[in-house]
Amino acid sequence: MSATTIRILEELMRSGGFRSGEELSSVLGSTRSAVWKHIRLLRQDGYDIEAVTGRGYRLTATPGYPDAIETGRFLQTSVLGQRIEHHRSVMSTNAQARKLAREGAPEGLVVTADAQTGGRGRMQRVWHSPPGVNLYFSIVLRPPVPPRVVPQIPLLAAAALHTALASVAGGVELRIKWPNDLLAGGRKLCGILCEMESEADMTHVVIVGIGVNVNLRALPPEIETVATSLLLETGREFSRPELLASILNAFEPLYRRWLEVQDLSPVFDYLEEYSWLRGKQVEVDQYGRRLKGVAAGISPTGELLLDMPDGSQTMVSSGETHLIPDNERT
Ligand code: BTN
Repeated sequence: MSATTIRILEELMRSGGFRSGEELSSVLGSTRSAVWKHIRLLRQDGYDIEAVTGRGYRLTATPGYPDAIETGRFLQTSVLGQRIEHHRSVMSTNAQARKLAREGAPEGLVVTADAQTGGRGRMQRVWHSPPGVNLYFSIVLRPPVPPRVVPQIPLLAAAALHTALASVAGGVELRIKWPNDLLAGGRKLCGILCEMESEADMTHVVIVGIGVNVNLRALPPEIETVATSLLLETGREFSRPELLASILNAFEPLYRRWLEVQDLSPVFDYLEEYSWLRGKQVEVDQYGRRLKGVAAGISPTGELLLDMPDGSQTMVSSGETHLIPDNERT
Protein backbone atom coordinates (compact mmCIF):
# COMPACT_ATOMS: atom_id res chain seq x y z
CA MET A 1 0.00 0.00 0.00
CA SER A 2 1.42 3.39 -0.96
CA ALA A 3 2.05 6.14 1.60
CA THR A 4 -0.80 8.21 0.10
CA THR A 5 -3.29 5.32 0.30
CA ILE A 6 -2.27 4.84 3.94
CA ARG A 7 -2.81 8.59 4.60
CA ILE A 8 -6.34 8.38 3.19
CA LEU A 9 -7.09 5.32 5.26
CA GLU A 10 -5.77 7.03 8.38
CA GLU A 11 -7.92 10.10 7.68
CA LEU A 12 -11.04 7.97 7.27
CA MET A 13 -10.25 5.99 10.41
CA ARG A 14 -9.54 9.11 12.44
CA SER A 15 -12.77 10.86 11.50
CA GLY A 16 -15.03 7.83 11.89
CA GLY A 17 -17.63 9.69 9.77
CA PHE A 18 -17.80 11.17 6.27
CA ARG A 19 -14.84 13.08 4.77
CA SER A 20 -15.56 14.91 1.55
CA GLY A 21 -13.44 14.29 -1.54
CA GLU A 22 -12.44 17.97 -1.35
CA GLU A 23 -11.20 17.68 2.25
CA LEU A 24 -9.25 14.54 1.48
CA SER A 25 -7.67 16.04 -1.61
CA SER A 26 -6.60 19.15 0.30
CA VAL A 27 -5.11 17.05 3.14
CA LEU A 28 -3.12 15.09 0.57
CA GLY A 29 -2.39 17.98 -1.79
CA SER A 30 -3.74 15.95 -4.71
CA THR A 31 -6.76 16.00 -7.06
CA ARG A 32 -10.15 14.52 -6.29
CA SER A 33 -9.70 11.94 -9.01
CA ALA A 34 -6.46 10.83 -7.33
CA VAL A 35 -8.40 10.45 -4.07
CA TRP A 36 -10.96 8.31 -5.90
CA LYS A 37 -8.16 6.11 -7.27
CA HIS A 38 -6.90 5.45 -3.74
CA ILE A 39 -10.43 4.75 -2.49
CA ARG A 40 -10.74 2.10 -5.22
CA LEU A 41 -7.42 0.55 -4.18
CA LEU A 42 -8.56 0.41 -0.56
CA ARG A 43 -11.81 -1.28 -1.58
CA GLN A 44 -9.86 -3.84 -3.60
CA ASP A 45 -7.85 -4.51 -0.47
CA GLY A 46 -10.98 -5.35 1.53
CA TYR A 47 -11.91 -2.00 3.10
CA ASP A 48 -15.63 -1.18 2.87
CA ILE A 49 -15.92 2.51 2.01
CA GLU A 50 -19.30 4.11 1.51
CA ALA A 51 -19.46 6.95 -1.04
CA VAL A 52 -22.42 9.36 -0.84
CA THR A 53 -22.85 12.27 -3.22
CA GLY A 54 -22.58 15.56 -1.37
CA ARG A 55 -21.13 13.96 1.81
CA GLY A 56 -18.02 12.12 0.66
CA TYR A 57 -16.47 8.88 1.90
CA ARG A 58 -16.93 6.89 5.08
CA LEU A 59 -15.10 3.78 6.21
CA THR A 60 -17.67 1.20 7.31
CA ALA A 61 -15.56 -1.94 7.75
CA THR A 62 -11.92 -2.99 7.62
CA PRO A 63 -10.55 -6.39 6.57
CA GLY A 64 -8.89 -6.72 10.00
CA TYR A 65 -5.34 -7.29 8.82
CA PRO A 66 -2.84 -7.32 11.70
CA ASP A 67 -0.93 -4.42 10.12
CA ALA A 68 0.56 -1.25 11.57
CA ILE A 69 -2.53 0.89 11.10
CA GLU A 70 -5.08 -1.47 12.57
CA THR A 71 -2.88 -2.86 15.33
CA GLY A 72 -1.51 0.57 16.25
CA ARG A 73 -4.97 1.69 17.41
CA PHE A 74 -4.78 -0.77 20.33
CA LEU A 75 -1.05 -0.71 21.15
CA GLN A 76 0.14 0.58 24.51
CA THR A 77 3.79 -0.39 24.14
CA SER A 78 6.77 1.84 23.72
CA VAL A 79 9.00 -0.60 21.78
CA LEU A 80 7.29 -3.84 20.75
CA GLY A 81 5.23 -3.35 17.60
CA GLN A 82 6.08 0.32 17.21
CA ARG A 83 7.17 -0.80 13.77
CA ILE A 84 5.10 -3.51 12.08
CA GLU A 85 5.91 -4.91 8.66
CA HIS A 86 2.79 -6.62 7.36
CA HIS A 87 2.61 -9.06 4.43
CA ARG A 88 -0.54 -10.36 2.80
CA SER A 89 1.47 -13.51 2.19
CA VAL A 90 5.03 -14.48 3.12
CA MET A 91 6.86 -17.76 3.33
CA SER A 92 7.48 -17.49 7.08
CA THR A 93 7.36 -14.41 9.32
CA ASN A 94 10.30 -15.90 11.27
CA ALA A 95 12.41 -16.14 8.11
CA GLN A 96 11.44 -12.60 7.10
CA ALA A 97 12.17 -11.19 10.59
CA ARG A 98 15.52 -12.96 10.59
CA LYS A 99 16.39 -11.43 7.24
CA LEU A 100 15.44 -7.96 8.48
CA ALA A 101 17.39 -8.50 11.69
CA ARG A 102 20.50 -9.39 9.68
CA GLU A 103 19.99 -6.11 7.82
CA GLY A 104 19.97 -4.28 11.17
CA ALA A 105 16.26 -4.17 12.16
CA PRO A 106 15.90 -2.75 15.66
CA GLU A 107 14.47 -4.42 18.74
CA GLY A 108 10.68 -4.40 18.71
CA LEU A 109 10.10 -4.77 14.98
CA VAL A 110 7.19 -7.14 14.39
CA VAL A 111 6.65 -8.96 11.10
CA THR A 112 3.04 -10.08 10.57
CA ALA A 113 1.36 -11.97 7.76
CA ASP A 114 -2.19 -12.69 6.70
CA ALA A 115 -0.98 -16.02 5.32
CA GLN A 116 2.27 -18.01 5.30
CA THR A 117 3.25 -20.30 2.44
CA GLY A 118 5.95 -22.07 4.46
CA GLY A 119 4.98 -21.52 8.10
CA ARG A 120 7.35 -23.50 10.33
CA GLY A 121 6.87 -25.15 13.68
CA ARG A 122 9.33 -26.76 16.07
CA MET A 123 11.00 -30.03 15.07
CA GLN A 124 10.75 -29.15 11.36
CA ARG A 125 6.96 -29.33 11.46
CA VAL A 126 4.67 -27.36 9.16
CA TRP A 127 2.55 -24.62 10.75
CA HIS A 128 -0.91 -24.51 9.14
CA SER A 129 -1.16 -20.89 7.92
CA PRO A 130 -4.25 -20.20 5.78
CA PRO A 131 -5.21 -16.57 4.95
CA GLY A 132 -7.70 -14.32 6.71
CA VAL A 133 -8.20 -16.21 9.94
CA ASN A 134 -5.18 -16.50 12.23
CA LEU A 135 -2.28 -14.57 13.68
CA TYR A 136 1.24 -15.27 12.41
CA PHE A 137 3.88 -12.89 13.70
CA SER A 138 7.53 -12.65 14.70
CA ILE A 139 9.10 -10.20 17.12
CA VAL A 140 12.72 -9.08 16.78
CA LEU A 141 14.43 -8.88 20.19
CA ARG A 142 17.98 -7.83 20.91
CA PRO A 143 18.33 -8.71 24.60
CA PRO A 144 21.71 -7.84 26.14
CA VAL A 145 21.89 -11.21 27.92
CA PRO A 146 24.06 -14.33 27.66
CA PRO A 147 22.68 -16.98 25.26
CA ARG A 148 22.17 -19.49 28.10
CA VAL A 149 19.16 -17.53 29.44
CA VAL A 150 17.47 -17.13 26.03
CA PRO A 151 15.56 -20.48 26.30
CA GLN A 152 13.50 -18.76 29.00
CA ILE A 153 11.98 -16.38 26.44
CA PRO A 154 9.38 -18.87 25.06
CA LEU A 155 8.01 -19.34 28.59
CA LEU A 156 7.88 -15.57 29.03
CA ALA A 157 6.02 -15.30 25.73
CA ALA A 158 3.69 -18.14 26.78
CA ALA A 159 2.80 -16.22 29.96
CA ALA A 160 2.08 -13.08 27.88
CA LEU A 161 -0.06 -15.07 25.45
CA HIS A 162 -1.98 -16.65 28.29
CA THR A 163 -2.63 -13.26 29.92
CA ALA A 164 -3.80 -11.69 26.66
CA LEU A 165 -5.98 -14.60 25.55
CA ALA A 166 -7.49 -15.18 28.99
CA SER A 167 -8.68 -11.58 29.02
CA VAL A 168 -10.69 -12.05 25.80
CA ALA A 169 -11.68 -15.72 26.04
CA GLY A 170 -13.00 -15.92 29.60
CA GLY A 171 -14.39 -19.34 30.41
CA VAL A 172 -11.96 -21.21 28.16
CA GLU A 173 -9.51 -23.41 30.07
CA LEU A 174 -6.15 -22.10 28.85
CA ARG A 175 -2.99 -23.90 29.94
CA ILE A 176 0.71 -23.45 29.27
CA LYS A 177 2.47 -26.61 28.14
CA TRP A 178 6.21 -26.60 28.73
CA PRO A 179 8.28 -25.54 26.91
CA ASN A 180 6.23 -23.33 24.62
CA ASP A 181 2.64 -24.17 23.75
CA LEU A 182 -0.66 -22.74 24.81
CA LEU A 183 -3.53 -25.21 24.99
CA ALA A 184 -7.27 -24.69 25.22
CA GLY A 185 -9.23 -27.64 26.56
CA GLY A 186 -6.10 -29.75 26.06
CA ARG A 187 -5.70 -28.85 22.37
CA LYS A 188 -3.08 -26.63 20.82
CA LEU A 189 -4.18 -23.03 20.34
CA CYS A 190 -0.81 -21.26 19.96
CA GLY A 191 2.73 -22.27 19.14
CA ILE A 192 5.95 -20.40 19.78
CA LEU A 193 9.13 -20.82 17.75
CA CYS A 194 12.13 -18.92 19.12
CA GLU A 195 15.27 -18.69 17.04
CA MET A 196 18.52 -17.10 18.13
CA GLU A 197 21.72 -15.81 16.57
CA SER A 198 24.56 -15.56 19.06
CA GLU A 199 28.24 -15.94 19.86
CA ALA A 200 29.55 -17.94 22.82
CA ASP A 201 28.67 -15.28 25.39
CA MET A 202 26.70 -12.72 23.46
CA THR A 203 23.18 -12.79 22.03
CA HIS A 204 22.79 -10.90 18.77
CA VAL A 205 19.14 -11.39 18.04
CA VAL A 206 16.19 -13.52 19.10
CA ILE A 207 13.21 -13.99 16.81
CA VAL A 208 10.07 -14.86 18.74
CA GLY A 209 7.65 -16.40 16.24
CA ILE A 210 4.07 -16.89 17.38
CA GLY A 211 1.13 -18.53 15.67
CA VAL A 212 -2.35 -18.25 17.19
CA ASN A 213 -5.35 -20.10 15.77
CA VAL A 214 -7.93 -17.33 16.00
CA ASN A 215 -10.94 -17.54 13.67
CA LEU A 216 -10.13 -20.89 12.09
CA ARG A 217 -13.37 -22.87 11.53
CA ALA A 218 -12.06 -26.10 10.06
CA LEU A 219 -8.85 -27.88 11.01
CA PRO A 220 -6.99 -29.99 8.45
CA PRO A 221 -7.25 -33.74 9.16
CA GLU A 222 -3.63 -34.06 10.33
CA ILE A 223 -4.22 -31.73 13.31
CA GLU A 224 -7.98 -32.16 13.76
CA THR A 225 -7.71 -34.05 17.04
CA VAL A 226 -4.84 -32.12 18.58
CA ALA A 227 -5.47 -28.45 17.68
CA THR A 228 -8.20 -25.88 18.17
CA SER A 229 -8.93 -22.18 17.63
CA LEU A 230 -10.42 -19.36 19.68
CA LEU A 231 -13.50 -19.47 17.46
CA LEU A 232 -13.95 -23.22 17.91
CA GLU A 233 -13.60 -22.83 21.68
CA THR A 234 -15.89 -19.82 22.14
CA GLY A 235 -18.15 -19.72 19.07
CA ARG A 236 -17.09 -16.08 18.57
CA GLU A 237 -14.86 -14.28 16.08
CA PHE A 238 -11.98 -12.15 17.34
CA SER A 239 -10.26 -9.07 15.96
CA ARG A 240 -6.76 -10.11 14.97
CA PRO A 241 -5.19 -6.63 15.28
CA GLU A 242 -6.70 -6.13 18.73
CA LEU A 243 -5.48 -9.55 19.84
CA LEU A 244 -1.99 -8.91 18.48
CA ALA A 245 -1.83 -5.58 20.32
CA SER A 246 -2.95 -7.15 23.59
CA ILE A 247 -0.29 -9.87 23.27
CA LEU A 248 2.42 -7.25 22.68
CA ASN A 249 0.99 -5.09 25.49
CA ALA A 250 1.25 -8.05 27.86
CA PHE A 251 4.69 -9.14 26.65
CA GLU A 252 6.57 -5.83 26.86
CA PRO A 253 6.42 -5.29 30.66
CA LEU A 254 7.28 -8.96 31.31
CA TYR A 255 10.23 -8.75 28.93
CA ARG A 256 11.49 -5.57 30.60
CA ARG A 257 11.39 -7.16 34.05
CA TRP A 258 13.01 -10.33 32.74
CA LEU A 259 15.88 -8.28 31.28
CA GLU A 260 16.61 -6.94 34.78
CA VAL A 261 16.56 -10.28 36.61
CA GLN A 262 17.35 -12.75 33.79
CA ASP A 263 15.30 -15.49 35.39
CA LEU A 264 11.64 -16.43 35.34
CA SER A 265 10.72 -14.87 38.70
CA PRO A 266 8.42 -12.28 37.04
CA VAL A 267 6.21 -15.10 35.71
CA PHE A 268 7.15 -18.10 37.82
CA ASP A 269 3.96 -18.34 39.92
CA TYR A 270 1.87 -17.68 36.83
CA LEU A 271 3.55 -20.47 34.87
CA GLU A 272 3.04 -22.89 37.75
CA GLU A 273 -0.60 -21.87 38.22
CA TYR A 274 -1.50 -22.43 34.58
CA SER A 275 0.80 -25.38 33.86
CA TRP A 276 -0.76 -28.17 31.80
CA LEU A 277 1.81 -30.80 32.78
CA ARG A 278 2.26 -30.27 36.51
CA GLY A 279 1.48 -33.43 38.48
CA LYS A 280 0.92 -35.49 35.34
CA GLN A 281 2.82 -38.47 33.94
CA VAL A 282 4.74 -37.28 30.91
CA GLU A 283 7.17 -38.50 28.33
CA VAL A 284 9.85 -36.13 27.09
CA ASP A 285 11.26 -36.72 23.65
CA GLN A 286 14.74 -35.28 23.43
CA TYR A 287 15.75 -35.88 19.84
CA GLY A 288 15.65 -39.67 20.17
CA ARG A 289 16.22 -39.97 23.93
CA ARG A 290 13.00 -40.57 25.86
CA LEU A 291 12.42 -39.81 29.53
CA LYS A 292 9.34 -40.78 31.49
CA GLY A 293 8.33 -39.30 34.82
CA VAL A 294 5.92 -37.06 36.68
CA ALA A 295 6.15 -33.34 35.91
CA ALA A 296 6.88 -31.70 39.26
CA GLY A 297 7.08 -28.12 38.01
CA ILE A 298 9.72 -25.89 36.48
CA SER A 299 12.97 -24.47 37.83
CA PRO A 300 13.47 -20.68 38.20
CA THR A 301 15.47 -20.82 34.98
CA GLY A 302 12.82 -22.67 33.01
CA GLU A 303 13.87 -26.33 33.05
CA LEU A 304 11.17 -28.97 33.48
CA LEU A 305 11.52 -30.85 36.77
CA LEU A 306 10.75 -34.51 36.31
CA ASP A 307 10.24 -36.92 39.22
CA MET A 308 11.72 -40.19 37.97
CA PRO A 309 10.44 -43.70 38.83
CA ASP A 310 13.63 -44.34 40.89
CA GLY A 311 12.83 -41.41 43.22
CA SER A 312 15.37 -39.00 41.74
CA GLN A 313 14.53 -35.68 40.12
CA THR A 314 15.82 -34.71 36.68
CA MET A 315 16.03 -31.23 35.17
CA VAL A 316 15.08 -31.26 31.49
CA SER A 317 16.20 -28.28 29.46
CA SER A 318 14.64 -29.05 26.07
CA GLY A 319 12.39 -31.50 24.27
CA GLU A 320 8.83 -32.31 23.28
CA THR A 321 6.47 -33.39 26.02
CA HIS A 322 3.48 -35.73 25.76
CA LEU A 323 1.09 -36.89 28.41
CA ILE A 324 1.26 -40.63 28.98
CA PRO A 325 -2.23 -42.14 28.46
CA ASP A 326 -3.70 -43.99 31.47
CA ASN A 327 -3.35 -47.42 29.86
CA GLU A 328 0.39 -46.91 29.26
CA ARG A 329 1.31 -45.81 32.77
CA THR A 330 3.81 -47.77 34.77
C1 BTN B 1 5.30 -24.90 17.22
O1 BTN B 1 4.41 -25.07 18.05
O2 BTN B 1 5.83 -25.86 16.66
C2 BTN B 1 5.73 -23.50 16.90
C3 BTN B 1 4.87 -22.87 15.85
C4 BTN B 1 5.26 -21.44 15.53
C5 BTN B 1 4.48 -20.89 14.36
C6 BTN B 1 4.76 -19.44 14.13
S1 BTN B 1 3.64 -18.71 12.99
C7 BTN B 1 4.60 -17.28 12.93
C8 BTN B 1 6.05 -17.73 12.92
N1 BTN B 1 6.48 -18.00 11.57
C9 BTN B 1 6.75 -19.29 11.40
O3 BTN B 1 7.13 -19.81 10.33
N2 BTN B 1 6.57 -19.96 12.53
C10 BTN B 1 6.14 -19.09 13.60
